[in-house]
Amino acid sequence: MGIILGIESSCDETAAALVTTDRRIIAQRIASQIEDHAPYGGVVPEIAARAHAEKLAPMIAEVMAEAALELDDLDAIAATAGPGLIGGVMVGLVSAKALAMASGVPLIAINHLEGHALSPRLADESLEFPYALLLVSGGHCQILMVEGVGEYRRLATTIDDALGEAFDKTAKILGLGYPGGPAVEKLAKQGDPKAVPLPRPLVGSGEPHFSFAGLKSAVLRAKDTSQHEDADIAASFQQAAVDCLLDRLRVSLDDIEKVPALVVAGGVAANQAIRSALEGFADDRSMRFVAPPLALCTDNAAMIAWAGAERLASGQSDPLDFVAKPRWPL
Ligand code: KG4
Ligand code: ZN
Repeated sequence: MGIILGIESSCDETAAALVTTDRRIIAQRIASQIEDHAPYGGVVPEIAARAHAEKLAPMIAEVMAEAALELDDLDAIAATAGPGLIGGVMVGLVSAKALAMASGVPLIAINHLEGHALSPRLADESLEFPYALLLVSGGHCQILMVEGVGEYRRLATTIDDALGEAFDKTAKILGLGYPGGPAVEKLAKQGDPKAVPLPRPLVGSGEPHFSFAGLKSAVLRAKDTSQHEDADIAASFQQAAVDCLLDRLRVSLDDIEKVPALVVAGGVAANQAIRSALEGFADDRSMRFVAPPLALCTDNAAMIAWAGAERLASGQSDPLDFVAKPRWPL
């Protein structure tokens, strides 16, 4: 059994966690910067980087103390090395390098998306490769085939906004504040999903990609007409999002022979309407549906430590001069 320290700092969550190779999270801390960014209606990179620099080191000391471990008890130190807001990524990666250098413990540079992609296997031991992954977060909207550690085949991606971004922008238009996803979902519960005619961009197209910019503009126009209740706009937006996801999944997966499981990850996976639509989609196709616990869906360090554990098990580590990458497709 090995122990991996995971560090996450690519967006607006500072997080550290200790995870064992046999899937136990032995200590974890997470600090959200939501309040720091809320006045600006979105994440401000400079503020994010400063907050990570302030919070990360004491947080790592706390998880190590809670688990009563010394650095040389660790088997690897895994940090998000991209993609993300580069100032924040550098804070996390440089901290990991310093700890690795001081202790001689191997460094593992993790692609944040790989963290999301593998996190369902931390929660569910029985989830075997391959599986289809719908990754829906504030920065990403992709469908991937996860065929093994380091073996990811991208089937679809967004040509403009990510779905979480569309939720956040809809929330802003409706005056719901940041982050928008949970607020839009809450308001949608009181609305009629058929009340407002909204587009389903790319639905029906044979190219398995996503587009949400047009949907966001249509939400803005619906709000501007003052003819609709906000709750109806929220519910109709959410329904349009669900319809896009299901159509795009259909196009992406139809040609693939064996897809035993559909897994959803990323912050938008917290949305219950989306979860139950995906569950129905998987049921219809006799696929297993796997949604990790909410705390593992949104950004966290346990998923980074776990991706480190999976990479370590396949004999991989990275040099101390590994460069942080603002863009890093999986
Ligand atoms: O994975 P995540 O924590 O961070 C990124 O890597 O982006 O995802 C955050 C995104 C935000 O856009 C947020 O509005 C969205 O996930 N989100 C939701 C819900 N909870 C969070 N979107 C829809 N419904 C929700 N309940
Ligand atoms: Zn994320």
